[in-house]
Amino acid sequence: MESIQVFAPASVANVGPGYDTFGFAIEHLGDVLTLTKREDSQLKILKSDGADLPTDPKNNVATVAIQALLDSLESQQGFDVHIKKLFKPGSGLGSSASSAAGAVYAANKLLDSPYTDEQLLEFALEGEALASGMIHADNVAPSLLGGFQAVRSYEPLELFRIPTPEELRVLIIFPDVEVKTSEAKGLVPKELAVKEAREQWGNVGALIHAMHTADYKLMRHAITDRIAEPVRKQLIPHYGQVKQYALDHGAVGFNISGSGPSMFALFRSAKAAKGCMIEVEKIYQKADLPVMLNLSRINPVGCQVI
Ligand code: HSE
Repeated sequence: MESIQVFAPASVANVGPGYDTFGFAIEHLGDVLTLTKREDSQLKILKSDGADLPTDPKNNVATVAIQALLDSLESQQGFDVHIKKLFKPGSGLGSSASSAAGAVYAANKLLDSPYTDEQLLEFALEGEALASGMIHADNVAPSLLGGFQAVRSYEPLELFRIPTPEELRVLIIFPDVEVKTSEAKGLVPKELAVKEAREQWGNVGALIHAMHTADYKLMRHAITDRIAEPVRKQLIPHYGQVKQYALDHGAVGFNISGSGPSMFALFRSAKAAKGCMIEVEKIYQKADLPVMLNLSRINPVGCQVI
């Protein structure tokens, strides 16, 4: 195989209480990456579609991740890399993670799959670290592996997958303002008092149980965050109003997606989400701010060849 095209989905990180720990993949939004083997050992970023991405291979998350994979294999294989973004970087949907995950997934396939998808995680994380200034796996893991992923430990890196109710639907609400992950990370407190921490881990446990048992009342209460939401919500126009409306009209969970400005709302069906979508559009129309809405299932697959 000389060339391959893959889809790497966008993802929702944190999911309320799971800062840097929980994340799930979504459908429709993501990156389409095309990798082609070169005769030489260069990694070349072709002009991207949908966003202006760095073309220096040392500054692009996709090529940094591929380089980590090649170094581990002691391979000199070069690639042309084309990235088409189906959503905006800086939207809180794991843009850099999609690029990094898709890049290593595609390169591994072109190299006859020396690694399992799980083993690719550490290489994708090196790309992600370039964008956010530190290693966090809560976008890369679901984008690469699909479903709802939880990081049990960073050292050593260990993950597990949380089953989710089949009927669950995710509404993404993206008001068109940019929030940089590296800056949003700087707002998060470095320390947490036990009083707050015990609420947080209570909710982490409750959310896992609610996903297993489809206990929607518990899910709604568990999707609460004492760490990032209190300091980040002011970066998101109309956050309080949109959250209140969604929770009053059928949402079984609402919070910031990753570092924002995107928000996610969970619903028990697509029908339940429809009324909320219309009202949210009106809120942003009144404020004269473009908003993008995406309704989908939790993407069970992660990266795939297309
Ligand atoms: N867990 C990360 C954060 C996700 O909240 O900073 C960034 O998308």
